[in-house]
Amino acid sequence: MKVYGVVAAFWLSLASATILQNGQVRPNDYPSTAISAISSYNSSWHTYSPGSPELSYKGRWDHKYISWWSAPGLKFGFQADQVAISFGKYTSDGVLVAYRLGGQDWMLTNVTANSTHLFVTPSTTGYNLTTPTNVTQTLELRVTNWAYGVQIQCVHISGGAAKLVKIPDYTRTMELIGDSLSAGQYATLEGISSYSWGLLYGLGNVEFSITAYPGICLHEGRCYSNLHGQTAQWLKIPDTSGRALDIYGSDLADIPNWDFAAHPAADITVINIGTNDNNTANNVTATGYYNSYIQLINEIHTRWPQSQIIVISLWSGFSQVGNTWQQGAGFLDEIQNVVKYFNNGSLNGRGECSSCFVYYFNTTGILEHSDIGPLYHPTDVGHVKLASHLMQYIKLTFGWILEQTGPEVQHDTLYWNDEADY
Ligand SMILES: *[C@@H]1O[C@H](CO)[C@@H](O)[C@H](O)[C@H]1NC(C)=O
Ligand SMILES: *[C@@H]1O[C@H](CO)[C@@H](O)[C@H](O)[C@H]1NC(C)=O
Ligand SMILES: *[C@@H]1O[C@H](CO)[C@@H](O)[C@H](O)[C@H]1NC(C)=O
Ligand SMILES: *[C@@H]1O[C@H](CO)[C@@H](O)[C@H](O)[C@H]1NC(C)=O
Ligand SMILES: *[C@@H]1O[C@H](CO)[C@@H](O)[C@H](O)[C@H]1NC(C)=O
Ligand SMILES: *[C@@H]1O[C@H](CO)[C@@H](O)[C@H](O)[C@H]1NC(C)=O
Ligand SMILES: *[C@@H]1O[C@H](CO)[C@@H](O)[C@H](O)[C@H]1NC(C)=O
Ligand SMILES: *[C@@H]1O[C@H](CO)[C@@H](O)[C@H](O)[C@H]1NC(C)=O
Ligand SMILES: *[C@@H]1O[C@H](CO)[C@@H](O)[C@H](O)[C@H]1NC(C)=O
Repeated sequence: MKVYGVVAAFWLSLASATILQNGQVRPNDYPSTAISAISSYNSSWHTYSPGSPELSYKGRWDHKYISWWSAPGLKFGFQADQVAISFGKYTSDGVLVAYRLGGQDWMLTNVTANSTHLFVTPSTTGYNLTTPTNVTQTLELRVTNWAYGVQIQCVHISGGAAKLVKIPDYTRTMELIGDSLSAGQYATLEGISSYSWGLLYGLGNVEFSITAYPGICLHEGRCYSNLHGQTAQWLKIPDTSGRALDIYGSDLADIPNWDFAAHPAADITVINIGTNDNNTANNVTATGYYNSYIQLINEIHTRWPQSQIIVISLWSGFSQVGNTWQQGAGFLDEIQNVVKYFNNGSLNGRGECSSCFVYYFNTTGILEHSDIGPLYHPTDVGHVKLASHLMQYIKLTFGWILEQTGPEVQHDTLYWNDEADY
Protein backbone atom coordinates (compact mmCIF):
# COMPACT_ATOMS: atom_id res chain seq x y z
CA MET A 1 0.00 0.00 0.00
CA LYS A 2 1.58 3.23 -1.02
CA VAL A 3 0.57 6.64 0.24
CA TYR A 4 1.67 9.47 -1.97
CA GLY A 5 2.65 12.43 0.14
CA VAL A 6 0.60 15.30 -1.13
CA VAL A 7 2.41 18.57 -1.26
CA ALA A 8 1.34 21.18 1.20
CA ALA A 9 2.75 24.57 2.02
CA PHE A 10 3.55 27.25 -0.45
CA TRP A 11 4.20 30.75 -1.14
CA LEU A 12 1.80 32.54 -3.38
CA SER A 13 1.51 35.55 -5.57
CA LEU A 14 -0.58 38.17 -3.88
CA ALA A 15 -2.47 39.11 -7.00
CA SER A 16 -6.08 39.77 -6.15
CA ALA A 17 -8.37 36.87 -6.83
CA THR A 18 -11.90 35.83 -6.14
CA ILE A 19 -12.05 33.75 -3.01
CA LEU A 20 -14.74 31.14 -2.64
CA GLN A 21 -15.91 29.90 0.71
CA ASN A 22 -18.15 26.86 0.56
CA GLY A 23 -18.73 27.64 -3.11
CA GLN A 24 -19.90 31.20 -2.47
CA VAL A 25 -17.92 34.30 -3.35
CA ARG A 26 -16.44 35.66 -0.16
CA PRO A 27 -17.61 39.26 0.36
CA ASN A 28 -14.71 41.64 0.90
CA ASP A 29 -16.51 44.97 1.02
CA TYR A 30 -15.69 45.61 4.66
CA PRO A 31 -16.92 48.90 6.15
CA SER A 32 -14.39 51.69 5.77
CA THR A 33 -13.02 53.22 8.95
CA ALA A 34 -10.82 55.80 7.22
CA ILE A 35 -11.14 59.41 8.32
CA SER A 36 -9.29 62.56 7.36
CA ALA A 37 -6.10 63.24 9.32
CA ILE A 38 -6.74 64.09 12.96
CA SER A 39 -4.76 67.34 12.67
CA SER A 40 -7.41 68.75 10.39
CA TYR A 41 -10.21 66.91 12.14
CA ASN A 42 -10.57 68.34 15.60
CA SER A 43 -8.18 69.90 18.06
CA SER A 44 -9.66 68.14 21.11
CA TRP A 45 -7.86 64.89 20.29
CA HIS A 46 -4.96 63.58 22.35
CA THR A 47 -2.27 61.85 20.34
CA TYR A 48 0.02 59.13 21.69
CA SER A 49 3.26 58.10 20.02
CA PRO A 50 3.74 54.44 19.01
CA GLY A 51 6.24 53.90 21.82
CA SER A 52 3.78 54.94 24.54
CA PRO A 53 3.99 52.46 27.43
CA GLU A 54 0.21 52.01 27.44
CA LEU A 55 0.39 50.27 24.06
CA SER A 56 1.00 46.51 24.09
CA TYR A 57 2.32 44.93 20.91
CA LYS A 58 1.53 41.24 20.40
CA GLY A 59 3.76 39.00 18.33
CA ARG A 60 6.85 40.37 16.57
CA TRP A 61 7.16 44.07 15.79
CA ASP A 62 10.32 45.99 14.99
CA HIS A 63 11.71 49.27 16.37
CA LYS A 64 9.76 51.19 13.71
CA TYR A 65 6.53 49.63 15.01
CA ILE A 66 6.10 47.54 11.87
CA SER A 67 4.33 44.20 12.36
CA TRP A 68 5.70 40.86 11.13
CA TRP A 69 4.67 37.19 10.81
CA SER A 70 1.12 35.87 11.30
CA ALA A 71 -1.65 37.61 13.28
CA PRO A 72 0.44 40.24 15.11
CA GLY A 73 -1.58 42.64 17.21
CA LEU A 74 -1.88 45.86 19.17
CA LYS A 75 -3.91 46.08 22.38
CA PHE A 76 -4.54 48.86 24.86
CA GLY A 77 -7.03 50.18 27.36
CA PHE A 78 -8.63 53.62 27.07
CA GLN A 79 -11.05 55.95 28.79
CA ALA A 80 -12.42 57.98 25.92
CA ASP A 81 -15.34 58.24 23.51
CA GLN A 82 -13.38 57.89 20.32
CA VAL A 83 -10.26 56.04 19.34
CA ALA A 84 -8.40 56.41 16.05
CA ILE A 85 -5.09 55.00 14.82
CA SER A 86 -2.79 56.48 12.18
CA PHE A 87 -0.84 54.01 10.07
CA GLY A 88 2.64 54.74 8.79
CA LYS A 89 4.15 54.44 5.34
CA TYR A 90 5.26 50.82 5.84
CA THR A 91 1.65 49.67 6.12
CA SER A 92 0.65 47.32 3.30
CA ASP A 93 -1.87 48.64 0.82
CA GLY A 94 -5.41 47.68 1.87
CA VAL A 95 -4.37 45.17 4.51
CA LEU A 96 -7.31 43.61 6.28
CA VAL A 97 -7.29 44.01 10.06
CA ALA A 98 -9.61 42.52 12.65
CA TYR A 99 -10.40 44.68 15.66
CA ARG A 100 -12.72 44.62 18.58
CA LEU A 101 -13.90 46.51 21.62
CA GLY A 102 -13.64 44.39 24.78
CA GLY A 103 -15.04 40.92 24.22
CA GLN A 104 -17.28 41.90 21.30
CA ASP A 105 -17.06 39.88 18.09
CA TRP A 106 -14.27 40.76 15.70
CA MET A 107 -14.94 43.47 13.13
CA LEU A 108 -13.00 43.79 9.89
CA THR A 109 -11.72 46.76 7.94
CA ASN A 110 -9.02 47.45 5.35
CA VAL A 111 -6.35 49.94 6.31
CA THR A 112 -3.60 51.45 4.24
CA ALA A 113 -0.39 53.46 4.42
CA ASN A 114 -0.46 57.11 5.54
CA SER A 115 -4.05 56.96 6.73
CA THR A 116 -6.03 57.39 9.92
CA HIS A 117 -8.85 55.06 10.89
CA LEU A 118 -11.57 55.58 13.47
CA PHE A 119 -12.09 52.32 15.37
CA VAL A 120 -14.27 53.32 18.33
CA THR A 121 -17.07 55.85 18.74
CA PRO A 122 -20.07 55.87 21.09
CA SER A 123 -22.03 54.05 18.40
CA THR A 124 -19.57 51.13 18.31
CA THR A 125 -21.33 47.94 19.37
CA GLY A 126 -20.55 47.26 23.00
CA TYR A 127 -19.51 50.81 23.86
CA ASN A 128 -22.49 51.35 26.18
CA LEU A 129 -22.51 47.88 27.70
CA THR A 130 -20.13 48.79 30.50
CA THR A 131 -21.06 50.87 33.54
CA PRO A 132 -20.05 53.32 34.78
CA THR A 133 -19.23 55.01 31.52
CA ASN A 134 -15.72 55.88 32.73
CA VAL A 135 -14.61 52.29 32.98
CA THR A 136 -11.49 51.33 31.03
CA GLN A 137 -12.41 49.69 27.74
CA THR A 138 -10.04 47.66 25.60
CA LEU A 139 -9.30 47.85 21.90
CA GLU A 140 -7.44 45.01 20.21
CA LEU A 141 -6.36 44.96 16.57
CA ARG A 142 -4.87 42.05 14.61
CA VAL A 143 -3.37 41.84 11.12
CA THR A 144 -5.06 38.97 9.28
CA ASN A 145 -2.57 38.23 6.47
CA TRP A 146 0.95 36.90 7.09
CA ALA A 147 2.53 38.65 4.10
CA TYR A 148 1.10 42.04 4.92
CA GLY A 149 1.65 44.25 7.90
CA VAL A 150 0.92 47.58 9.48
CA GLN A 151 3.07 50.30 10.91
CA ILE A 152 1.63 52.12 13.91
CA GLN A 153 2.30 55.85 13.63
CA CYS A 154 0.16 57.05 16.53
CA VAL A 155 -3.00 56.50 18.51
CA HIS A 156 -5.54 59.29 19.01
CA ILE A 157 -8.33 59.52 21.56
CA SER A 158 -10.95 62.07 22.47
CA GLY A 159 -13.85 62.49 24.87
CA GLY A 160 -14.31 61.36 28.46
CA ALA A 161 -11.14 61.22 30.52
CA ALA A 162 -9.26 60.96 27.17
CA LYS A 163 -6.50 58.74 28.44
CA LEU A 164 -4.87 55.46 27.52
CA VAL A 165 -4.51 52.72 30.10
CA LYS A 166 -1.93 49.93 30.11
CA ILE A 167 -3.54 46.47 30.08
CA PRO A 168 -1.23 44.06 31.93
CA ASP A 169 0.09 41.13 29.92
CA TYR A 170 -1.23 37.67 30.66
CA THR A 171 1.23 35.54 32.56
CA ARG A 172 0.92 32.50 30.26
CA THR A 173 2.99 32.67 27.08
CA MET A 174 3.24 30.50 23.99
CA GLU A 175 5.06 30.42 20.67
CA LEU A 176 4.09 28.62 17.48
CA ILE A 177 6.74 28.07 14.80
CA GLY A 178 5.60 26.92 11.37
CA ASP A 179 4.95 27.41 7.67
CA SER A 180 1.81 28.12 5.61
CA LEU A 181 -0.17 25.46 7.48
CA SER A 182 0.31 27.45 10.69
CA ALA A 183 0.14 30.92 9.09
CA GLY A 184 -3.40 30.15 7.95
CA GLN A 185 -2.82 30.25 4.20
CA TYR A 186 -6.06 29.60 2.26
CA ALA A 187 -8.18 29.71 5.43
CA THR A 188 -11.14 32.09 5.22
CA LEU A 189 -9.60 34.89 7.26
CA GLU A 190 -6.05 33.59 6.98
CA GLY A 191 -4.06 34.11 10.18
CA ILE A 192 -7.14 34.52 12.37
CA SER A 193 -8.74 31.38 10.92
CA SER A 194 -5.67 29.20 11.48
CA TYR A 195 -5.39 26.36 13.96
CA SER A 196 -2.54 28.36 15.52
CA TRP A 197 -4.90 31.22 16.29
CA GLY A 198 -7.62 28.82 17.40
CA LEU A 199 -5.19 27.19 19.79
CA LEU A 200 -3.31 30.19 21.14
CA TYR A 201 -6.20 32.65 21.35
CA GLY A 202 -8.66 29.87 22.12
CA LEU A 203 -6.82 28.74 25.25
CA GLY A 204 -7.42 32.23 26.60
CA ASN A 205 -5.22 34.51 28.69
CA VAL A 206 -2.10 33.63 26.71
CA GLU A 207 0.41 36.04 25.21
CA PHE A 208 1.57 34.47 21.98
CA SER A 209 3.49 34.84 18.79
CA ILE A 210 2.92 32.90 15.54
CA THR A 211 6.27 32.80 13.75
CA ALA A 212 4.99 31.00 10.67
CA TYR A 213 5.39 31.90 7.00
CA PRO A 214 4.18 30.17 3.82
CA GLY A 215 6.74 28.08 1.93
CA ILE A 216 9.43 28.31 4.58
CA CYS A 217 11.59 25.29 5.41
CA LEU A 218 13.15 24.32 8.71
CA HIS A 219 16.56 23.69 7.14
CA GLU A 220 18.57 26.81 6.34
CA GLY A 221 18.39 27.78 2.67
CA ARG A 222 16.03 28.90 0.00
CA CYS A 223 12.61 27.24 -0.19
CA TYR A 224 10.26 28.70 -2.80
CA SER A 225 10.60 32.47 -2.36
CA ASN A 226 11.89 32.26 1.21
CA LEU A 227 15.61 32.92 1.33
CA HIS A 228 16.11 31.40 4.78
CA GLY A 229 14.85 28.47 6.82
CA GLN A 230 13.43 28.69 10.33
CA THR A 231 16.70 27.70 12.01
CA ALA A 232 17.91 31.16 10.97
CA GLN A 233 14.74 33.20 10.47
CA TRP A 234 13.13 32.37 13.80
CA LEU A 235 15.96 34.25 15.48
CA LYS A 236 15.07 37.38 13.51
CA ILE A 237 12.41 40.04 14.01
CA PRO A 238 10.94 39.98 10.49
CA ASP A 239 9.59 37.11 8.44
CA THR A 240 10.76 36.19 4.92
CA SER A 241 8.23 38.35 3.02
CA GLY A 242 8.93 40.69 0.14
CA ARG A 243 8.28 43.68 2.39
CA ALA A 244 10.98 42.38 4.78
CA LEU A 245 13.39 42.13 1.84
CA ASP A 246 12.51 45.70 0.84
CA ILE A 247 13.24 47.04 4.31
CA TYR A 248 16.07 44.81 5.54
CA GLY A 249 17.53 43.12 2.47
CA SER A 250 18.49 39.46 2.14
CA ASP A 251 21.75 39.29 4.08
CA LEU A 252 21.19 37.62 7.45
CA ALA A 253 23.73 39.93 9.04
CA ASP A 254 21.56 42.94 8.13
CA ILE A 255 18.31 41.47 9.42
CA PRO A 256 17.75 42.49 13.04
CA ASN A 257 17.66 39.77 15.68
CA TRP A 258 14.65 39.28 17.89
CA ASP A 259 15.56 40.44 21.38
CA PHE A 260 14.65 37.35 23.37
CA ALA A 261 15.90 38.85 26.62
CA ALA A 262 13.49 41.78 26.28
CA HIS A 263 10.42 39.57 25.99
CA PRO A 264 8.99 36.87 28.26
CA ALA A 265 9.99 33.29 27.49
CA ALA A 266 7.31 31.02 26.05
CA ASP A 267 6.03 28.51 28.59
CA ILE A 268 5.06 26.24 25.71
CA THR A 269 6.49 26.23 22.18
CA VAL A 270 4.61 24.39 19.43
CA ILE A 271 6.48 23.48 16.24
CA ASN A 272 4.88 22.34 12.98
CA ILE A 273 7.60 22.53 10.37
CA GLY A 274 9.01 20.36 7.59
CA THR A 275 6.27 19.99 5.01
CA ASN A 276 8.30 22.21 2.67
CA ASP A 277 11.58 20.45 3.52
CA ASN A 278 9.76 17.21 2.64
CA ASN A 279 9.09 18.39 -0.90
CA THR A 280 11.26 17.55 -3.88
CA ALA A 281 10.93 21.19 -5.02
CA ASN A 282 13.40 22.05 -2.26
CA ASN A 283 16.67 20.25 -1.76
CA VAL A 284 16.56 19.20 1.87
CA THR A 285 17.80 15.74 2.80
CA ALA A 286 16.30 13.69 5.62
CA THR A 287 19.56 13.99 7.56
CA GLY A 288 19.70 17.73 6.98
CA TYR A 289 16.15 18.04 8.27
CA TYR A 290 16.85 15.90 11.35
CA ASN A 291 19.97 17.91 12.23
CA SER A 292 18.17 21.22 11.67
CA TYR A 293 15.32 20.15 13.93
CA ILE A 294 17.77 19.39 16.74
CA GLN A 295 19.45 22.73 16.07
CA LEU A 296 16.16 24.66 16.28
CA ILE A 297 15.12 22.95 19.51
CA ASN A 298 18.54 23.71 20.98
CA GLU A 299 18.17 27.36 19.94
CA ILE A 300 14.80 27.50 21.68
CA HIS A 301 15.99 25.66 24.78
CA THR A 302 19.05 27.91 25.11
CA ARG A 303 16.90 31.02 25.13
CA TRP A 304 13.92 29.56 27.01
CA PRO A 305 15.29 26.78 29.25
CA GLN A 306 11.88 26.18 30.87
CA SER A 307 9.85 26.02 27.66
CA GLN A 308 7.97 22.78 27.02
CA ILE A 309 8.24 21.98 23.33
CA ILE A 310 5.52 20.21 21.35
CA VAL A 311 6.56 18.76 18.00
CA ILE A 312 3.64 18.23 15.62
CA SER A 313 3.85 15.26 13.25
CA LEU A 314 3.39 16.20 9.57
CA TRP A 315 0.11 14.95 8.11
CA SER A 316 1.23 15.80 4.56
CA GLY A 317 -2.18 15.50 2.94
CA PHE A 318 -4.29 12.51 1.99
CA SER A 319 -4.18 10.05 -0.87
CA GLN A 320 -6.71 7.66 -2.30
CA VAL A 321 -5.76 4.12 -1.40
CA GLY A 322 -8.02 1.58 -3.06
CA ASN A 323 -11.53 2.85 -2.60
CA THR A 324 -10.79 4.89 0.50
CA TRP A 325 -8.34 7.49 1.79
CA GLN A 326 -5.22 7.50 3.89
CA GLN A 327 -3.24 10.22 5.64
CA GLY A 328 0.37 10.80 4.63
CA ALA A 329 3.26 11.47 6.98
CA GLY A 330 6.31 13.56 6.09
CA PHE A 331 9.63 12.71 7.75
CA LEU A 332 7.80 10.23 9.96
CA ASP A 333 10.92 8.61 11.41
CA GLU A 334 13.04 11.75 11.53
CA ILE A 335 10.55 13.65 13.70
CA GLN A 336 10.20 10.74 16.12
CA ASN A 337 13.98 10.41 16.23
CA VAL A 338 14.30 14.10 17.11
CA VAL A 339 11.95 13.58 20.05
CA LYS A 340 13.88 10.45 21.05
CA TYR A 341 17.15 12.34 20.79
CA PHE A 342 16.01 14.79 23.46
CA ASN A 343 14.29 12.18 25.63
CA ASN A 344 16.73 9.32 25.19
CA GLY A 345 17.31 7.42 28.39
CA SER A 346 14.77 9.44 30.35
CA LEU A 347 11.58 7.51 29.63
CA ASN A 348 10.22 5.14 32.23
CA GLY A 349 8.56 1.84 31.33
CA ARG A 350 5.24 3.57 30.59
CA GLY A 351 6.90 6.00 28.19
CA GLU A 352 6.64 8.86 30.72
CA CYS A 353 9.42 11.24 31.59
CA SER A 354 9.52 13.92 34.23
CA SER A 355 12.60 15.74 32.97
CA CYS A 356 11.69 15.66 29.28
CA PHE A 357 10.75 18.88 27.55
CA VAL A 358 10.09 17.67 23.97
CA TYR A 359 6.71 16.11 23.22
CA TYR A 360 5.43 14.35 20.10
CA PHE A 361 1.95 15.39 19.02
CA ASN A 362 0.56 12.69 16.75
CA THR A 363 -1.79 14.19 14.16
CA THR A 364 -2.83 10.87 12.67
CA GLY A 365 -6.58 10.47 12.93
CA ILE A 366 -7.43 14.12 13.68
CA LEU A 367 -7.98 15.27 10.12
CA GLU A 368 -9.76 13.36 7.36
CA HIS A 369 -9.30 13.92 3.65
CA SER A 370 -12.30 16.28 3.49
CA ASP A 371 -10.65 18.57 6.08
CA ILE A 372 -8.07 19.55 3.46
CA GLY A 373 -9.02 22.14 0.83
CA PRO A 374 -8.23 21.95 -2.90
CA LEU A 375 -4.98 23.87 -2.27
CA TYR A 376 -3.73 21.23 0.20
CA HIS A 377 -4.25 23.25 3.34
CA PRO A 378 -6.77 22.59 6.12
CA THR A 379 -10.26 23.97 5.65
CA ASP A 380 -11.59 26.20 8.42
CA VAL A 381 -13.14 23.07 9.93
CA GLY A 382 -9.80 21.26 9.71
CA HIS A 383 -8.13 24.15 11.52
CA VAL A 384 -10.75 24.08 14.28
CA LYS A 385 -10.27 20.31 14.71
CA LEU A 386 -6.53 20.67 15.04
CA ALA A 387 -6.87 23.58 17.48
CA SER A 388 -9.36 21.68 19.62
CA HIS A 389 -7.18 18.60 19.88
CA LEU A 390 -4.11 20.66 20.70
CA MET A 391 -6.01 22.59 23.37
CA GLN A 392 -7.08 19.35 25.00
CA TYR A 393 -3.57 17.91 24.68
CA ILE A 394 -2.11 20.95 26.45
CA LYS A 395 -4.77 20.76 29.14
CA LEU A 396 -4.11 17.07 29.77
CA THR A 397 -0.32 17.25 29.46
CA PHE A 398 0.42 20.48 31.32
CA GLY A 399 -2.73 21.02 33.37
CA TRP A 400 -3.53 24.33 31.68
CA ILE A 401 -7.09 25.56 32.22
CA LEU A 402 -9.09 26.61 29.15
CA GLU A 403 -9.60 30.27 30.09
CA GLN A 404 -11.33 31.68 27.02
CA THR A 405 -14.89 31.22 28.17
CA GLY A 406 -17.02 33.34 25.88
CA PRO A 407 -15.52 35.93 23.55
CA GLU A 408 -15.34 34.96 19.89
CA VAL A 409 -12.09 33.39 18.67
CA GLN A 410 -12.69 32.26 15.08
CA HIS A 411 -14.70 34.82 13.13
CA ASP A 412 -17.27 34.05 10.42
CA THR A 413 -17.81 30.46 11.53
CA LEU A 414 -21.30 31.14 12.86
CA TYR A 415 -23.52 29.33 10.36
CA TRP A 416 -26.33 27.09 11.37
CA ASN A 417 -29.56 25.41 10.40
CA ASP A 418 -32.71 26.99 11.79
CA GLU A 419 -35.11 24.82 9.81
CA ALA A 420 -37.00 23.08 12.61
CA ASP A 421 -39.75 21.53 10.51
CA TYR A 422 -39.18 19.17 7.59
C1 LIG B 1 -14.24 67.57 18.73
O1 LIG B 1 -14.50 66.20 19.01
C2 LIG B 1 -15.12 66.00 20.25
C3 LIG B 1 -15.22 64.52 20.47
O2 LIG B 1 -15.77 63.90 19.38
C4 LIG B 1 -16.49 66.67 20.22
O3 LIG B 1 -17.10 66.50 21.49
C5 LIG B 1 -16.32 68.14 19.92
O4 LIG B 1 -17.60 68.73 19.76
C6 LIG B 1 -15.53 68.35 18.66
N1 LIG B 1 -15.23 69.75 18.48
C7 LIG B 1 -15.32 70.37 17.30
C8 LIG B 1 -14.94 71.80 17.29
O5 LIG B 1 -15.69 69.78 16.28
C1 LIG C 1 3.31 57.61 2.45
O1 LIG C 1 3.97 58.82 2.73
C2 LIG C 1 5.36 58.79 2.41
C3 LIG C 1 5.95 60.12 2.82
O2 LIG C 1 5.80 60.28 4.19
C4 LIG C 1 5.52 58.58 0.93
O3 LIG C 1 6.89 58.47 0.64
C5 LIG C 1 4.82 57.28 0.53
O4 LIG C 1 4.87 57.14 -0.88
C6 LIG C 1 3.38 57.30 0.96
N1 LIG C 1 2.78 56.01 0.69
C7 LIG C 1 1.61 55.85 0.12
C8 LIG C 1 1.14 54.46 -0.15
O5 LIG C 1 0.92 56.79 -0.20
C1 LIG D 1 -9.76 44.18 1.97
O1 LIG D 1 -9.04 43.01 2.32
C2 LIG D 1 -9.51 41.86 1.64
C3 LIG D 1 -8.74 40.67 2.17
O2 LIG D 1 -7.37 40.83 1.93
C4 LIG D 1 -9.34 42.04 0.14
O3 LIG D 1 -9.87 40.91 -0.52
C5 LIG D 1 -10.07 43.28 -0.31
O4 LIG D 1 -9.80 43.50 -1.66
C6 LIG D 1 -9.60 44.48 0.50
N1 LIG D 1 -10.41 45.64 0.14
C7 LIG D 1 -9.86 46.83 -0.05
C8 LIG D 1 -10.82 47.92 -0.38
O5 LIG D 1 -8.66 47.04 0.02
C1 LIG E 1 -24.40 54.78 23.34
O1 LIG E 1 -24.89 55.92 23.98
C2 LIG E 1 -24.70 57.16 23.24
C3 LIG E 1 -25.13 58.31 24.12
O2 LIG E 1 -26.37 58.04 24.68
C4 LIG E 1 -25.48 57.07 21.95
O3 LIG E 1 -25.25 58.21 21.17
C5 LIG E 1 -24.99 55.84 21.18
O4 LIG E 1 -25.75 55.65 20.00
C6 LIG E 1 -25.11 54.58 22.02
N1 LIG E 1 -24.47 53.49 21.32
C7 LIG E 1 -25.10 52.36 21.04
C8 LIG E 1 -24.30 51.31 20.30
O5 LIG E 1 -26.24 52.13 21.36
C1 LIG F 1 -15.93 60.37 34.46
O1 LIG F 1 -14.66 60.97 34.61
C2 LIG F 1 -14.69 62.37 34.60
C3 LIG F 1 -13.26 62.91 34.56
O2 LIG F 1 -12.45 62.13 35.41
C4 LIG F 1 -15.50 62.85 35.84
O3 LIG F 1 -15.57 64.25 35.85
C5 LIG F 1 -16.89 62.26 35.76
O4 LIG F 1 -17.62 62.57 36.93
C6 LIG F 1 -16.85 60.76 35.63
N1 LIG F 1 -18.18 60.24 35.34
C7 LIG F 1 -18.66 59.14 35.88
C8 LIG F 1 -20.04 58.75 35.45
O5 LIG F 1 -18.02 58.46 36.65
C1 LIG G 1 17.95 21.71 -6.16
O1 LIG G 1 19.04 21.04 -6.77
C2 LIG G 1 18.96 20.98 -8.17
C3 LIG G 1 20.10 20.12 -8.66
O2 LIG G 1 21.30 20.47 -8.03
C4 LIG G 1 19.02 22.41 -8.72
O3 LIG G 1 18.88 22.38 -10.12
C5 LIG G 1 17.86 23.21 -8.13
O4 LIG G 1 17.96 24.55 -8.53
C6 LIG G 1 17.89 23.15 -6.61
N1 LIG G 1 16.70 23.77 -6.10
C7 LIG G 1 16.73 24.66 -5.11
C8 LIG G 1 15.40 25.21 -4.66
O5 LIG G 1 17.76 25.00 -4.55
C1 LIG H 1 9.14 12.79 2.89
O1 LIG H 1 8.92 11.99 4.05
C2 LIG H 1 8.59 10.63 3.71
C3 LIG H 1 8.23 9.90 5.01
O2 LIG H 1 9.28 9.96 5.92
C4 LIG H 1 9.75 10.01 2.97
O3 LIG H 1 9.40 8.69 2.59
C5 LIG H 1 10.07 10.82 1.71
O4 LIG H 1 11.21 10.32 1.10
C6 LIG H 1 10.29 12.27 2.07
N1 LIG H 1 10.41 13.05 0.83
C7 LIG H 1 11.26 14.07 0.70
C8 LIG H 1 11.29 14.74 -0.61
O5 LIG H 1 11.92 14.49 1.63
C1 LIG I 1 19.95 6.83 22.64
O1 LIG I 1 21.10 6.59 23.42
C2 LIG I 1 21.82 5.42 23.04
C3 LIG I 1 22.92 5.19 24.03
O2 LIG I 1 23.64 6.39 24.24
C4 LIG I 1 22.34 5.60 21.61
O3 LIG I 1 23.01 4.44 21.18
C5 LIG I 1 21.15 5.84 20.69
O4 LIG I 1 21.59 6.12 19.37
C6 LIG I 1 20.33 7.02 21.18
N1 LIG I 1 19.11 7.14 20.36
C7 LIG I 1 18.74 8.26 19.78
C8 LIG I 1 17.48 8.22 19.00
O5 LIG I 1 19.35 9.31 19.88
C1 LIG J 1 0.12 7.92 15.69
O1 LIG J 1 -1.24 7.57 15.69
C2 LIG J 1 -1.54 6.50 14.81
C3 LIG J 1 -3.05 6.35 14.80
O2 LIG J 1 -3.53 6.27 16.10
C4 LIG J 1 -0.83 5.25 15.28
O3 LIG J 1 -1.08 4.22 14.37
C5 LIG J 1 0.67 5.54 15.32
O4 LIG J 1 1.35 4.42 15.86
C6 LIG J 1 0.96 6.74 16.17
N1 LIG J 1 2.37 7.08 16.05
C7 LIG J 1 3.16 7.20 17.10
C8 LIG J 1 4.58 7.52 16.84
O5 LIG J 1 2.77 7.08 18.24
